[in-house]
Amino acid sequence: MIYMDNAATSFPKPESVYQAMDDFNRLVGANPGRGSNQQSLKAGSVMVEAREALARLFNIDDGSQIALMPNVTEALNVGLKGILRKGDHVITTSMEHNSVARPLYALSRLGVEWTAVQCDNNGRLDPGDIKNAIKANTRLICILHVSNLTGTIMPVQEVGQIARENNLLFMVDCAQSAGVLPLDVKKQHIDLLAFTGHKSLLGPQGTGGLYVKPGIKIEPLKVGGTGSLSEFLEHPQMMPDLLESGTHNTPGIAGLLAGLRYIEQTGVEAIRAREIKIAAMLWDGMKSIAGLRVYGPDSLDDRGAVFAFNFDDIDCGEVSMTLDYEFGIISRSGTHCAPLAHKTIGTLESGTCRLSPGYFTTEAEVLAVIKALEAISARK
Ligand SMILES: Cc1ncc(COP(=O)(O)O)c(C=O)c1O
Repeated sequence: MIYMDNAATSFPKPESVYQAMDDFNRLVGANPGRGSNQQSLKAGSVMVEAREALARLFNIDDGSQIALMPNVTEALNVGLKGILRKGDHVITTSMEHNSVARPLYALSRLGVEWTAVQCDNNGRLDPGDIKNAIKANTRLICILHVSNLTGTIMPVQEVGQIARENNLLFMVDCAQSAGVLPLDVKKQHIDLLAFTGHKSLLGPQGTGGLYVKPGIKIEPLKVGGTGSLSEFLEHPQMMPDLLESGTHNTPGIAGLLAGLRYIEQTGVEAIRAREIKIAAMLWDGMKSIAGLRVYGPDSLDDRGAVFAFNFDDIDCGEVSMTLDYEFGIISRSGTHCAPLAHKTIGTLESGTCRLSPGYFTTEAEVLAVIKALEAISARK
């Protein structure tokens, strides 16, 4: 099997990730922050170390400002619903994933105003359009870092600067970029950073979280047991407990911590360099195939390793099935939870097939994928 769906979830993980989860389940097992027995303290230190590793990766001063959650969808919901109120205005791009678009659609029905700034047909954003969309009641700008459809890298630094100059909160969805592209909450003026653990952070599914800059007032979506201030009925107001009710996926977080350590040892620059090498090889091969169109920006400087494509006259679902059942290649087809992005690039009706190599994709695998695409093209 050749796995080419790393934009959905990365696979395989580093060996240390599997090992860390197994070790946690077999040797620790306890609930972090629940009691002061030795096992619970060991589990608690996994949580603290994971927050500290994330803080180093994103240049965050205080790891306790990071709430760990099951995925970026929850983090984005907390960021949007925990901050926006009736009468507030929020600005996003037309490339957002449904994990931003759906909460905002729901909030717009409750009186939150929402502007999705139009990107061009390669998914590129002009930061000036964000600036022009600001109104007196604008409270928040929320954009993704890298599109899960076109791979387009958004101008996070420039948009952060605009947010700062206009006294607006700035939230970034780094689902497709964390661990591959540099992220620095201070330099990029990011107030809220929503991440998922199971993609380029190389952790397991069921992990993610939200960084909240100190001083920002945010309401939790759920309240309950935190293991802290348990004598009071009022939910704790300090981070991370404010946004972390209920028992964690601690085995998953142990795996995420191993993924973060792997990234730290390898280096984000080296990971991006590997991504560019493999992506260039795949993309060059795809571009040479008759009747195959790849969407998105035409320089690897402007994109991640996500390649949405279509053949002129074959349904994307059929292409994905053929790749899978005939060639053993795992891709994804359809609308990729991003209808706004598909509308932006003109593929809402057709959908696209998507290939997304990962850090562990080999050159031989890329060559096999190109050969398979050539074989499909020759059949038409
Ligand atoms: C840009 C982007 N945002 C959000 C998500 C949602 O991720 P999760 O399912 O881990 O919450 C994805 C996943 O595909 C994504 O690519």
